Amino acid sequence: MDFQEGINLQARETFYITTPIYYPSDNLHIGHAYTTVAADCMARFKRMQGKDVYYLTGTDEHGQKIERVAREKGQEPAEYVDGIVSNIQKLWQTMMITNDDFIRTTEKRHEEVVQEIFNKVYEKGDIYLSEYQGWYCTPCETLFTERQLEDGKCPDCGREVELVKEESYFFNMAKYAPRLLDYIEGNPDFIQPESRRNEVVSFIKSGLDDLCVSRTSFKWGVPVPFNRDHVVYVWFDALINYLSAIGYGSDQEKFDRFWPADVHLMAKDIIRFHAIIWPIMLMALDLPLPKKVCAHGWIMLEGGKMSKSKGNVIDPRILIEKYGLDAVRYYLVKELNFGQDGTYSEEMLVNRINYDLANDLGNLISRTAAMIIRYFTGQIPAPAVEEAVDLELKEAARTAFREATEKLDKLDFCAYIIAAMRLVSRANKYIDETAPWLLAKDEAKKQRLATVMYNLAECIRIAVILLAPTMPTLAERTNQQINFFADPGRLKWEEAGIWGLCPAGALVTKGEPLFPRIDLKSLENLNGEDKPVEEKTEKEPAQAKAVSEPEYISIDDFARMDLRVAEIIACEKMEKADKLLILKVRLGEEERTVVSGIAKHYTPEELVGKKVVLVANLKPTKLRGVMSQGMILAASDENDVEVLTVERISSGNRVK
Ligand code: MSP
Repeated sequence: MDFQEGINLQARETFYITTPIYYPSDNLHIGHAYTTVAADCMARFKRMQGKDVYYLTGTDEHGQKIERVAREKGQEPAEYVDGIVSNIQKLWQTMMITNDDFIRTTEKRHEEVVQEIFNKVYEKGDIYLSEYQGWYCTPCETLFTERQLEDGKCPDCGREVELVKEESYFFNMAKYAPRLLDYIEGNPDFIQPESRRNEVVSFIKSGLDDLCVSRTSFKWGVPVPFNRDHVVYVWFDALINYLSAIGYGSDQEKFDRFWPADVHLMAKDIIRFHAIIWPIMLMALDLPLPKKVCAHGWIMLEGGKMSKSKGNVIDPRILIEKYGLDAVRYYLVKELNFGQDGTYSEEMLVNRINYDLANDLGNLISRTAAMIIRYFTGQIPAPAVEEAVDLELKEAARTAFREATEKLDKLDFCAYIIAAMRLVSRANKYIDETAPWLLAKDEAKKQRLATVMYNLAECIRIAVILLAPTMPTLAERTNQQINFFADPGRLKWEEAGIWGLCPAGALVTKGEPLFPRIDLKSLENLNGEDKPVEEKTEKEPAQAKAVSEPEYISIDDFARMDLRVAEIIACEKMEKADKLLILKVRLGEEERTVVSGIAKHYTPEELVGKKVVLVANLKPTKLRGVMSQGMILAASDENDVEVLTVERISSGNRVK
């Protein structure tokens, strides 16, 4: 780096983002990958905005849980974690995670800081020696009082707890509770989303017990510096990684540059550690608090939470091999509505790939490229004759940029994707509206055709920039077909906010589809390879069975339906079709058009404002020229039809 660059770096605004450091008790699953990909998306976005980003992830390697798992496998804890950590690092490489650092709590640079901080807080008088008796949940590494247990089990994970009684150091948390409450009140964005903030506030108000911060019953931890019989409690140790990685106590300049962190991202399971214990530790150290602590929901499976003990975890590596990295990352980033849980199924993943990526994005790119090759010998033409519909398209591009930026800044990943993909849908609609194949037939309309092609290319350029933080190979792969970018690895975010940067004359070449469609049927066959095939014999014809038994479907069959609460935000009669209404519905952030045959039973005014149930993964179909994206559920008898409505649950949520 030369001197000039050094100055620029100092002047650049910083952005420090972290994921939780994961327990290397086992290989990671798509739940962990979700947080890491979401944080990566944020880090890439901020780099594209020109910020000096520090993206930290790592592993939380001490504690009773790891010690036990290692011993069960007949290994020393250090040896055991080395193997898993190496798998985790490989996984992040495969997923093109751009972390600037990877901290392991067993590193010297971290252990030294833990001891320094333990000492400091002790000397300040906020840590004292006493004895505790309580119930310890080893998987959660959390101690509970008798009162906190639920049916004698861990209130967080429902597993068995163990009675423990030992001498221990305590951290006086109650002392800082009023200050923390004041801080939360004065900084409404500190804890996101609001539901978590409320949860944290009421937890603090219910009274904070002092926290036990050392253990004597096992050895796998950082020794308490002034009493070697004790090791530091694993959470007190782990949270400090956010300081040790950026040079606390060793590189003051780096530390001052990046602290306080801009975002600690995690799932809701560990919000209390980050929004209560961690800020109080920082107060005891007289350090400023992080700017934002944000908790997303969980990725669930149909049968409940993913867990190693249930043996139902989904390995991201297998999905990437099957569907490609961009597609898997896209699915993950879009999967969770802000703060809410989502349900993973391979079928939903395939639907996302087919509808969003193959039908919408991939198709837009390949159709546009093919037309530019056919009509303009493979060079993006300069725009010429403008019409009103072009202004609408430009407005859609501006809105996509503005909304994608706003939503990403708020860490609302799903809404950001929806905003970007709205531009893609708008551009596809623009192809239908402008019908370039008709313009191409008339030499006099060549100039108009040039404008249409240019505008389409421009929408693709903008959409690719907006989606680049999520799909790291998209720009490079698109560039091989439409040569927009001089360096697709160094895109600038603001360039998505400026119309007209697409270079006229850029070369367009034919390529493979970026997102090939996946045939669900072939997938089922593939997945069923190991299953015994049921043979149909002459002796037992399917029909005979149907007479004696009702035709049951399995819960999995039912789960294939994606039913959602949808709010009707607009409705009109379809012209020349007396039974049909065209509804505009909202599912969370997403909007869809649905054609429904209920015009004889409802007026449009009666329907607007109702929350109905939508079959959201029904294959879109054109009805009288209007694309219907789903079907609303209704009960009926011979005279009447009544749509199913929902009162309390907000739009976008699942019905099951
Ligand atoms: N080691 C602690 C964190 C210490 S941070 C100072 C820990 N580790 S963990 O391995 O259990 O990881 C928990 C985190 O993994 C969650 O907060 C979340 O970020 C991610 N997830 C694990 N399972 C998940 C889902 N099923 N869904 C979404 N995120 C999930 O807790």
